Amino acid sequence: MIKNTFKIIYYFIFSRLILSILTILFNNCFVNVKAEEVVKSVNIRFQLINTNLNIRPCVYRNDDISQPIELEKSDEKYPLYLKDVEIDCPNDMEFKYHYGDCNDKTLIEDFYRSLNITPGESYSTENEFYNRPKTKRVKFLPEIWERPYEPSSYDIFGIDYVGTFYLLSKNATLLENMNQIPHSNVKVPFEGIYIGEKDTYKFEDKGWELSIAGNYSRMFTKQSFKIVYKGDDEPKFLPVKLKLKGFANDATMLREPICLELLKKVGIPTYRGSFARLYIDK
Ligand SMILES: *[C@@H]1O[C@H](CO)[C@@H](O)[C@H](O)[C@H]1NC(C)=O
Ligand SMILES: *[C@@H]1O[C@H](CO)[C@@H](O)[C@H](O)[C@H]1NC(C)=O
Repeated sequence: MIKNTFKIIYYFIFSRLILSILTILFNNCFVNVKAEEVVKSVNIRFQLINTNLNIRPCVYRNDDISQPIELEKSDEKYPLYLKDVEIDCPNDMEFKYHYGDCNDKTLIEDFYRSLNITPGESYSTENEFYNRPKTKRVKFLPEIWERPYEPSSYDIFGIDYVGTFYLLSKNATLLENMNQIPHSNVKVPFEGIYIGEKDTYKFEDKGWELSIAGNYSRMFTKQSFKIVYKGDDEPKFLPVKLKLKGFANDATMLREPICLELLKKVGIPTYRGSFARLYIDK
């Protein structure tokens, strides 16, 4: 019995060793995975949202803080910072973002992010946010009845990703008026960008307007907003009307999303929603 156990352990270690040597010979990668899954190198685009122009974010691979990969400000997609890099042996790739002076190691994230690599493709990370670890995908209830209607779907919004609206008003006076007098129904023309999990949408057409939404909710300090498109051409990824609800009287910000999800799952037509962070003229 004892002999057998030894044999099995011995055999197991020996076969791992052979596998590792083969892996090194053929791939130059030493990784603890099955040989056929080993990828030699892959192009990865790192993408991080950063609204502070004084900060140059970078990425560290595994624990190697001696070689930061600096991300670059994207003129087209700001506040997104990007960098395309070829990564060798990506199978054991874990990474962390760093935010600020590279000598200040306290600003490195204290958790690892990982990539799920399958061979032969280029990769982009999601549009990520410093110090926001990804937890589990949200799985809601099953649908119990067949839907009698097709729900409108905009892929750019998802319930388990926090998107980013980065809006710039085209008239500072109007924005000031809107903030000072919430009941005045001032409409502020703006441009800007929405950064979703994978895609972005630029508010560049003339006709996007921002105003304060709600009635009773205007009495709270934290306002809710309305985004409406008054232009001629239909925007590509977005509906022409969006509401950004502040949920000033619901600290969990969950009541309405759960309610909408329940309605959807029992087959009642309802509007859709997801979470977002909002910057106006930052
Ligand atoms: C901003 O809006 C105000 C009020 O409508 C208007 O008087 C002013 O000319 C606008 N300013 C600019 C720069 O368009
Ligand atoms: C809510 O709407 C009513 C009717 O339009 C209006 O008279 C009232 O002033 C509004 N209240 C607030 C707080 O905006």
